[in-house]
Amino acid sequence: MHDDLSEILLDAAAIAGRVEQIAAELADRLAPAAERDDPVVLVPVLTGSLVFTADLIRHLPLKMRLDVVTVSSYAGRATESAGASLVGGIPTDLQGRHVVLVDDIFDTGRTLSLLDTEMRTAGAADVTSVVLLSKPARHEVELRPDLVGFEIPDAFVVGYGLDYDGLYRNLPCIGVLRPEAIG
Ligand code: IMP
Ligand code: MG
Repeated sequence: MHDDLSEILLDAAAIAGRVEQIAAELADRLAPAAERDDPVVLVPVLTGSLVFTADLIRHLPLKMRLDVVTVSSYAGRATESAGASLVGGIPTDLQGRHVVLVDDIFDTGRTLSLLDTEMRTAGAADVTSVVLLSKPARHEVELRPDLVGFEIPDAFVVGYGLDYDGLYRNLPCIGVLRPEAIG
């Protein structure tokens, strides 16, 4: 699997260190809500944010619920975003809740922009968005994530939850996929 990478951008240790920092920053932001015992709902975007979310929540010592959403943005093997659409629904009972959207990467931003609007429309008290990666060169929306782990160049990356055609999610590092591996 590693052979299909032309470059490792972030190794497991770098990711782990940054995830801990992001968790600390997020815990600070959520502290007032947590102190008031307000309900916090983490909303991971499947499937890419699965690994990131699993690591992040174990550094978040506060009461929270997890309620996943699925957004489809890539049809099959394409590595270009084809826009975002919700698959299934959004969590019920978001009224008055502090929602934290968690995604693997902020690329065009359409996914998080769509979800941010949906959560606010559903009555969330506030919406915080957290992404592990961001590709500033590709942003197409006004929204910017509140917390970003790493800004990366405009390259297609895989690993640590991110896939190409459903593969490579289990790589512990994040790397650039060789053009030959893109079929
Ligand atoms: P956006 O809606 O364009 O911001 O795209 C966000 C989604 O596209 C992410 O949740 C990922 O699933 C996927 N994505 C964007 N860039 C990459 C990449 O470089 N590798 C793998 N998936 C990506
Ligand atoms: Mg995704």
